[in-house]
Amino acid sequence: MATNSMNLEDVPSESLMSELLRRMKCAYKPDKRLILIGPPGSGKGTQSPIIKDEYCLCHLATGDMLRAAVAAKTPLGIKAKEAMDKGELVSDDLVVGIIDEAMKKPSCKKGFILDGFPRTVGQAQKLDDMLEKQGVKIDKVLDFAIDDAVLEERITGRWIHPASGRTYHTKFAPPKVPGLDDVTGEPLVQRKDDTAAVLKSRLDAFHKQTQPVIDYYSEKGIVAKLHAEKPQKEVTDEVKKVLS
Ligand code: AP5
Repeated sequence: MATNSMNLEDVPSESLMSELLRRMKCAYKPDKRLILIGPPGSGKGTQSPIIKDEYCLCHLATGDMLRAAVAAKTPLGIKAKEAMDKGELVSDDLVVGIIDEAMKKPSCKKGFILDGFPRTVGQAQKLDDMLEKQGVKIDKVLDFAIDDAVLEERITGRWIHPASGRTYHTKFAPPKVPGLDDVTGEPLVQRKDDTAAVLKSRLDAFHKQTQPVIDYYSEKGIVAKLHAEKPQKEVTDEVKKVLS
């Protein structure tokens, strides 16, 4: 208790006030449980922070969690690395475990955005079981529909600020100074799997294993199809329309 109040005393007043205002605004937002599904580079990770802020949800991206585990060389990361480097999916059991754990975080109280999960029908069924136990269900699945031909340019031009997860694109969302993060000035990096060759395997996995997940949720009548090839702002407007 003493430690907590000490920590709060060290937090700048502006940060405390803005967090308080955020929580007051969030109290009036409806709960939402969303899945974002689409091929690599379709814009799931770009739209997620916008939806997260608008609806006070937590953003759970299995790809980000797995990359953190690989970087930290945890047992999970060691098991996942080989499949990720090749652009293949890691096993259902590994990702289901991390999602089950992550959904219990206090920041997921008003709901969540699942970005990149579920990616197989098996994962979708396990997710349904988990949610049923909590007495809740998925409200909407946003299908980032896009032609494969557009994706190579998006993937090979992507640059990331690893510490914050901020994403840039050399053509579509360039940083103010090439190669440097706008906020910290730190160097940007490219993901190891963001090459034209690995993209082929990732797209193959998407069409064979993940496309059936869209059919699975279509049968439940909760899929909203987006025009993910449109410019970023227009996709955001579509998302907001679907969720309002
Ligand atoms: P993951 O990290 O989930 O990668 P992915 O699904 O391939 O998705 P991306 O992050 O590449 O694409 P995105 O749609 O988020 O695109 P973004 O918004 O950044 O998974 C990586 C690996 O982890 C997998 O291959 C697998 O091995 C493993 N894995 C993860 N989850 C798993 C699971 N559930 N089961 C098993 N294995 C799993 O946009 C891309 C670029 O385009 C950016 O530069 C952006 O600025 C730009 N951009 C975005 N929107 C637009 C727009 N509208 N117009 C122009 N440019 C745009």
